[in-house]
Amino acid sequence: MRVLGIETSCDETSAAVVENGSKVLSCVIATSKQDFQRLGGVIPEEAAREQLKSILPVLSETLRSADATNNDIDAIAVTYGPGLLGSLLVGTSTARVLASVWKKPLIGVHHTLGHLSSTWLTDELENTVDTPIFPVLTLSVSGGHTDLWYRRSHTVGKLLGSTRDDAAGEAFDKGAVLLGLPYPGGPMLEKLARGGDAKKFKFPRPLSKEDTLDFSFSGLKTSLKYLLRDMPKNSVSSVPEAALSSIAASYQEAICTHLSHAASTALDRYPETREIHIVGGVAANGRLREHMKTLAETHGIRLRTPSTLRYCTDNGAMIAAAGTFLVAELPASLHQSFETVASQDLRSILSDPS
Ligand code: KG4
Ligand code: ZN
Repeated sequence: MRVLGIETSCDETSAAVVENGSKVLSCVIATSKQDFQRLGGVIPEEAAREQLKSILPVLSETLRSADATNNDIDAIAVTYGPGLLGSLLVGTSTARVLASVWKKPLIGVHHTLGHLSSTWLTDELENTVDTPIFPVLTLSVSGGHTDLWYRRSHTVGKLLGSTRDDAAGEAFDKGAVLLGLPYPGGPMLEKLARGGDAKKFKFPRPLSKEDTLDFSFSGLKTSLKYLLRDMPKNSVSSVPEAALSSIAASYQEAICTHLSHAASTALDRYPETREIHIVGGVAANGRLREHMKTLAETHGIRLRTPSTLRYCTDNGAMIAAAGTFLVAELPASLHQSFETVASQDLRSILSDPS
């Protein structure tokens, strides 16, 4: 089954052709992120305007580089939400028109289910990569969410914990701002942390007194703010580079320890888990990967991350994959009528395994 996936929920415009939910024949991602760099965040109307301009060129390039025409496509999958409404509408309207003109079935995909499917994607020409084995514990970490999922199949899963305030990516981004780094801060903070001493500064472990798999990052950000305020001359610019690097390393360590601690508790509760996956933009973080690798080795199970960094951030391939899995497990999804929605809890479309 060859699915054309379309993703426009935030500031990316992406399309991809994916075979059997795994083999990526092409994936094109256009982003207006750099336009928002100097403004420090996305402006929804601007993002949608850019997406309107890029959606058709992105689609033609996707088909061209897959060496495919509409005759080679079996279905179209599109993100219907959650996300920025104007941006989502660019994708869903385009997908509806294409499905009608090409006479193809349309599959509406929840954005988070797309991220959860991103570890199934491969660029390998020969589909030799082994596919993941359920049950899977997935840590989904991006600028918008921080969720821990236990899944028995693509559509049977339980949300074990999620953030009560900032998302993990936001913790990186807001920390980066405090450290005087540019937007988006996650990769810059990771770079600054390299070579720093992660044990030099102490940060409290959030929610350590509670029996919960939830996350909370706002306290860490406040601790960082006070730490920098109490530095001599109370200005980031006067802190020596080595000290700044150790502050970044210690802050990053606190975020990663909080995330991996919850994953470790979840593995104790669900010992039948076969694999741990990390998905979303923060899955690109090297230190988080090291933490989770150690955890996976301790439990004798496999750690999987998206096969390239492109599949960590928003992309059409993960939407095509999720669309394929939805149809395989819930065939009615193929002719599903859906609304474009700014918010929706993924739990409303998954069955609870317990
Ligand atoms: O999934 P994504 O592209 O967009 C959504 O939020 O949906 O994730 C972007 C987030 C940003 O907060 C960014 O700072 C963070 O992922 N990020 C990182 C790294 N690369 C991206 N955070 C920490 N370390 C990284 N290397
Ligand atoms: Zn996303």
